[in-house]
Amino acid sequence: MAAKKHQAVVLGTSWGIRSRFRSLIAFLITLLIITAVYLTQDSIGRVLEDTTDGLQLSECNLFSGKWVFDNQSYPLYKEQQCTFMSDQLACEKFGRKDLSYQNWRWQPHQCNLPRFNATALLETLRNRRLVFVGDSLNRNQWVSMVCLVDSWIPPKLRSMHNNDSLNIFKAIEYNASIEFYWAPLLVESNSDDPVNHRIPDRTVRIKAIEKHARHWTGGDILVFDSYLWWRRPRMKVLWGSFESPDDAIYKEVEMLRVYEMALRTWSDWVEVHVDRTKTQLFFVSMSPTHERAKDWGGGENCYKETGKISEEGYWGSDSDPKMMRVVEMVLDDLKTRGLNVQMLNITQLSEYRKEAHPSIYRKQWEPLTKEQIENPSSYADCIHWCLPGLPDVWNELLYAYIVNQ
Ligand SMILES: *[C@@H]1O[C@H](CO)[C@@H](O)[C@H](O)[C@H]1NC(C)=O
Ligand SMILES: *[C@@H]1O[C@H](CO)[C@@H](O)[C@H](O)[C@H]1NC(C)=O
Ligand SMILES: *[C@@H]1O[C@H](CO)[C@@H](O)[C@H](O)[C@H]1NC(C)=O
Ligand SMILES: *[C@@H]1O[C@H](CO)[C@@H](O)[C@H](O)[C@H]1NC(C)=O
Ligand SMILES: *[C@@H]1O[C@H](CO)[C@@H](O)[C@H](O)[C@H]1NC(C)=O
Repeated sequence: MAAKKHQAVVLGTSWGIRSRFRSLIAFLITLLIITAVYLTQDSIGRVLEDTTDGLQLSECNLFSGKWVFDNQSYPLYKEQQCTFMSDQLACEKFGRKDLSYQNWRWQPHQCNLPRFNATALLETLRNRRLVFVGDSLNRNQWVSMVCLVDSWIPPKLRSMHNNDSLNIFKAIEYNASIEFYWAPLLVESNSDDPVNHRIPDRTVRIKAIEKHARHWTGGDILVFDSYLWWRRPRMKVLWGSFESPDDAIYKEVEMLRVYEMALRTWSDWVEVHVDRTKTQLFFVSMSPTHERAKDWGGGENCYKETGKISEEGYWGSDSDPKMMRVVEMVLDDLKTRGLNVQMLNITQLSEYRKEAHPSIYRKQWEPLTKEQIENPSSYADCIHWCLPGLPDVWNELLYAYIVNQ
């Protein structure tokens, strides 16, 4: 139609400017219709992609969003039903009465998170190892992941082995393992003992990682974190080995510098030893603590908190943006060397969740003193997170990347 009118314009010289103008309008309308049809098809395509598995992660920032109360879909499992629940995280078991911390769904602004499907995850993990490496926050996330799949597997077809720093959960039928390796500073340190690591004088062996790395290098999906154990102004750095103290050189160095050196040792190892054709790599950003209630205008710390923080962009004084930037820098650098490590940017979304910590509702490994009992906030755990709860959402984010690879 447009072509015909166009021809008419060329032929009919006597029609003048008005005719030319009309045909231009017709042409534009046609163009508009074609564009509209094209766009509609495109958006239908996108809707379909959202409901199937083809979520376009590159086009959506999963970490920018809001919390939505949803007690229909959440929690994703029941605390008592998780065989491998930890007494450090079982808040309901240890007396917590307000359970709304279990009912929040994360809603990214630009897209929807795929619904967690344990069977689909186990299919993806068939003949593979998913290994979490890091500190007790990463263990928190590992326990959550185990709980998320646990009830979908008959008891005879799952197993748990704890051997020193390595904990292995197996879904036998799938030959899939979900593991946790304790290395709170990633490089070697005097806090490497999985049980007795509460050492006031912290020392890191900044260039040494192989003792840990040999346990996880063959993993197919590796999820790292390291943050909390670094929170002090200076660190003692060891050149030499812990075993031969006579040859060792110790030096106190500013923490941020040591953190960077440790992450460089880690990234060098990853670059050289990880099989980049089959390995998916993740780094979990800082897990925020809620130990200073004056940050949000509250009482003392997370003790007695039952609601989340609603102030958009809230950022606590315990979370060090400089450390996050060091991680970003190291990951960017790895990218230039051909290795893509996806950051699970959970810091901001977790900042809002001051009510989601165990507080006093967890097992106390040592009997409480009279002073502590009189002042409960003094022993509240405002670092870890109750399960079911926030780390389940971290795993939904991880899941989105794993099943959409
Ligand atoms: C992490 O997510 C927050 C919230 O969307 C954003 O402000 C921040 O820039 C992100 N950081 C990184 C390293 O992606
Ligand atoms: C969900 O929350 C609403 C509002 O708080 C409440 O009325 C309802 O009983 C809750 N449903 C369940 C299943 O807990
Ligand atoms: C979960 O995933 C399995 C395997 O991919 C699939 O057969 C099943 O339909 C999924 N369940 C739901 C509720 O989507
Ligand atoms: C079981 O999984 C491991 C990796 O976790 C793999 O090395 C091994 O080949 C798998 N076994 C079979 C029979 O596929
Ligand atoms: C524990 O790990 C060590 C070192 O990796 C290994 O030699 C040993 O066989 C393991 N023990 C068990 C019971 O799995």
